[in-house]
Amino acid sequence: MRFEGSGDYVATPDLMLAVNAAITLQRPLLVKGEPGTGKTMLAETVAAALGLPLLQWHIKSTTKAQQGLYEYDAVSRLRDSQLGGEHGSRVHDIANYIVKGVLWQAFGAETPTVILIDEIDKADIEFPNDLLRELDRMEFYVYETRELIKARHRPIVFITSNNEKELPDAFLRRCFFHYIKFPDKETMQSIIDVHFPDLKKALIREALEVFFELREIPGLKKKPSTSELLDWLKLLVAEDIPPEALRAKDQKAAIPPLHGALLKNEQDVHLFERLVFMARQNR
Ligand SMILES: Nc1ncnc2c1ncn2[C@@H]1O[C@H](COP(=O)(O)OP(=O)(O)OP(=O)(O)O)[C@@H](O)[C@H]1O
Ligand SMILES: [Mg+2]
Repeated sequence: MRFEGSGDYVATPDLMLAVNAAITLQRPLLVKGEPGTGKTMLAETVAAALGLPLLQWHIKSTTKAQQGLYEYDAVSRLRDSQLGGEHGSRVHDIANYIVKGVLWQAFGAETPTVILIDEIDKADIEFPNDLLRELDRMEFYVYETRELIKARHRPIVFITSNNEKELPDAFLRRCFFHYIKFPDKETMQSIIDVHFPDLKKALIREALEVFFELREIPGLKKKPSTSELLDWLKLLVAEDIPPEALRAKDQKAAIPPLHGALLKNEQDVHLFERLVFMARQNR
């Protein structure tokens, strides 16, 4: 099984290499990178390209590792026991109240699957450690029913992190790691082509120029990323804004229209306005 890229996702050669290395090693691929650089979309893309079902597990601060395996629904069982009748007869088999989590679904599937554990750094510090054995051995024990669940096929696992928390060494040892570098101009051009195949070249050129200049501003709290650039382009097209309006040639710096798509807090907008103001004074 090899990932060779896909029509609607731009994967650089080093990213494809990392995906295939993780598949060969049968280890989870840990993907990091700035927000909006295509970490989540990578798992969707690989699943689609390999024709495998994708099971997604989006992690929140309250998510526990156990929820990925299974949960025991004690409340339903209690309710059924009080209702009696048809419901009452279900009560004796505890298996009726076991709700399968993403890992169990993947382990039990007829075909290999792709698992996405998205934003693992959102959970508490114990979360990655609690999944070590399951991800390593691809098996776990269900105490309620005394069953050992083993994966029929080893799933391909993608784990994304935004670096909000450090991950434990024992966990890192079991993963293959890839950092998605921020796309250079050429790669960004290809990404834009994928999303807007009919966009005028002049508009893309100007927009890319403004975008990369904006990212260079020292001291920005939040640099705009790929998804913000795509949003901005979509707006420029919708509002029919001509390329010349992005950066008037005579007054080297102008505030780009619809910059709310790129700059997401008032400090950054102020900083940018100040720079533009200074540039005009120096002309
Ligand atoms: N390499 C790429 N090829 C095509 N589209 C891309 C690529 N990278 C990013 N995008 C676009 O950017 C959007 C954001 O990507 P995605 O949600 O995967 O980012 P992310 O890294 O998971 O961000 P976050 O850390 O905020 O969750 C995608 O919906 C897609 O439109
Ligand atoms: Mg994401």
